[in-house]
Amino acid sequence: EQDSPGSATAVAHPNIALIKYWGKRDERLILPVTDSLSMTLDVFPTTTSVRLAAGAGPDEVTLNGRPAEGEAGRRITAFLDLVRQSAGRTERAVVDTRNTVPTGAGLASSASGFAALAVAAAAAYGLDLDATALSRLARRGSGSASRSLFGGFAVWHAGPEHGTDADADAGSYAEPVPTAALDPALVIAVVNAGPKPVSSREAMRRTVDTSPLYRPWAASSKDDLVEMRAALGRGDLTAVGEIAERNALGMHATMLAARPAVRYLSPATVTVLDRVLQLRQAGIAAYATMDAGPNVKVLCPRADAQRVADAVRDAAPDSTVLVAGPGPGARLSDEDG
Ligand code: PMV
Repeated sequence: EQDSPGSATAVAHPNIALIKYWGKRDERLILPVTDSLSMTLDVFPTTTSVRLAAGAGPDEVTLNGRPAEGEAGRRITAFLDLVRQSAGRTERAVVDTRNTVPTGAGLASSASGFAALAVAAAAAYGLDLDATALSRLARRGSGSASRSLFGGFAVWHAGPEHGTDADADAGSYAEPVPTAALDPALVIAVVNAGPKPVSSREAMRRTVDTSPLYRPWAASSKDDLVEMRAALGRGDLTAVGEIAERNALGMHATMLAARPAVRYLSPATVTVLDRVLQLRQAGIAAYATMDAGPNVKVLCPRADAQRVADAVRDAAPDSTVLVAGPGPGARLSDEDG
């Protein structure tokens, strides 16, 4: 599997949360306030190779063929420092990452990115970690990345609120969620592929610190998760959609109430939401979810995906629409970066 000692390549897919992660209780360890639950996709993989290099100097990080700059580069180096520390190694790394999803557009490029980096870097530095430990590690890069370690549906446990940092870290990882037979599709409407106005990191911080709606949402999200697990367990896609949509709208309500407000939803988002409502009135179990950006992901039965995609295209002609399904977890690949 591994290319050679000191070198590895991994592939990971983004995931879309049906119960959102929004708000940290510990910024350094990336511990969330609430549990979250997602579906890993079969589109937009990230492929990352990590090769250890001799000699002193900074890590060399290439993102889609260009040297990583600024915040992106710093986050990757900080993550590699964590891996080096766990492995008791000091070599610098040469990292090459290829994302097939627009970076920073609220389409979870950080989830596939840090999941792939965790798997590749752990292997390159000789860390022998199981999926749970890799999920914990990926979490330190970007919270949502913890869930991309697993295919299909995954739940990320917030972990214990009390106890030591080590206890909290150990308890905060993702794992697969048992589901009955479901044949879901996620119709993704990229209404604007540009970078977001406020990073999710900053938006979460502001929401937790200033939004009077944050605590009530976090409390209701706990109930949503219980209902979501039950709906997945009985294969009730309509209930899954209903719960996902209300959880996402609630998350956006918390940030609209932050001071100053964070608003990721655009006119095109709302136009698509109207169309989703019309689809429901026409008897199609289509439900929307949005993340830290204006793009809309519509959950529906796979059998209805084409009809939903056509309707969304018609409503937002300037958007790019594609149909995704449940995808695989992060894994090492033979491909040479
Ligand atoms: O992992 P981050 O820091 O990119 O946060 C992602 C947060 C949301 O995408 C908005 C919700 C989620 O659970 O993925």
